[in-house]
Amino acid sequence: MAFVRKLALGGAVAALMGTTSVASAAEQVEVLHWWTSGGEAAALNVLKEDLAKKGVEWLDMPVAGGGGEAAMTALRARVTAGNPPTAVQMLGFDIKDWAKEGALGNLDEVATAEGWDAVIPGALQEFSKYDGHWVAAPVNVHSTNWVWINKAALDATGLGVPANWDELVAVLDKMKENGITPLAHGGQAWQDATIFDAVVLSMGNDFYKRSMIDLDPAALNSPEMVEVFNRMTKLRSYVDDNFSGRDWNLASAMVINNEAGMQMMGDWAKGEFLKAGKVPGTDFVCIRFPGTQGSVTFNSDQFAMFNVTDADAKAAQAKMASSVEDPVFQSAFNVVKGSVPARTDVPDTDFDDCGKKGIADLAEANGNGGLFGSMAHGHAAPAAIKNAVYDVVTAQFNGEYDAETAAAELANAVAEAQ
Ligand code: GAL
Repeated sequence: MAFVRKLALGGAVAALMGTTSVASAAEQVEVLHWWTSGGEAAALNVLKEDLAKKGVEWLDMPVAGGGGEAAMTALRARVTAGNPPTAVQMLGFDIKDWAKEGALGNLDEVATAEGWDAVIPGALQEFSKYDGHWVAAPVNVHSTNWVWINKAALDATGLGVPANWDELVAVLDKMKENGITPLAHGGQAWQDATIFDAVVLSMGNDFYKRSMIDLDPAALNSPEMVEVFNRMTKLRSYVDDNFSGRDWNLASAMVINNEAGMQMMGDWAKGEFLKAGKVPGTDFVCIRFPGTQGSVTFNSDQFAMFNVTDADAKAAQAKMASSVEDPVFQSAFNVVKGSVPARTDVPDTDFDDCGKKGIADLAEANGNGGLFGSMAHGHAAPAAIKNAVYDVVTAQFNGEYDAETAAAELANAVAEAQ
């Protein structure tokens, strides 16, 4: 794992060195992000084109690496050098942390003029605002408790869509028997943690809340958590030999290309299926992780705006923020990205069946107390705790700990990180 982390950080530094510092020019935004896969880049293009139409020039600072860990390392270096980008793709608690450092700008003017308070859900505002002021513009709502299943591979099992853990295991076993890799997975800490999110949630809303949100030691080291880790071990038995270090979009490609049965991944995976011309319901099936229907672990990509002094740069930031919250853009972007809108007033008309389900599930979860921030994607706890969880989850997934030891280690690591 340490090796994989180092590789990711190496990528961040390389990306950083390749970026020359940019003098602020009229109507220009320099945007740091990690949307480099096919589906992600296609979605980002919707924004780039929208801003180009409005006369805002886009300076791209991509830092590859799913989940954004490498991007956040690159960002730290830029800020330390006194040269922050104008806008940065950012998740949950990272926004709070940068705001606390006084590094973020203020979007109150545009937010007030456009009435964001009334249309952006409270669960997102929690991260978009600091000290009552808007510091970031949410682009989307993703969720992590999804499974993307190859339809032909599912049909070949003769079994239906799995609705609970036992049915899931039965489908995975049958796929193995049929000679296909049952589970497409990339062995990177954030991907292991993405599956972990869903498995923890499958033990119930209350358990997810107590363990991942409240960080209650009695839940972190509990018989339920031991069961979570046993399930992780079981899932590990369905991945192929080459899973270690694989990027998430290459795992998606295995399902797309009929080499694997399913992937457990956030709905950015749908962007890859769509980019490959695949159709939900025909080529692939989207379901909530068995046992989590009605609940959602979410993460929201936001563009955090950094402090800039130049008036033109400030104006460009406001223009970008306004574009991002435009309901027409919200629909167009999220249809391509696989996520759902960050506003409650965007119609689901243009979304495919998985997107419509995503929008409905989010509303349902929000209404029944089943909406929680994703631990894997920075919406349950600050980065130090998230990283502590990553370390234990990855070590256990790779056989370093048995389930009992992992539960005890998890409680220790989270306590130490607080
Ligand atoms: C998530 C992010 C998504 C997607 C994914 C994989 O953290 O919210 O937008 O980019 O990482 O890169």
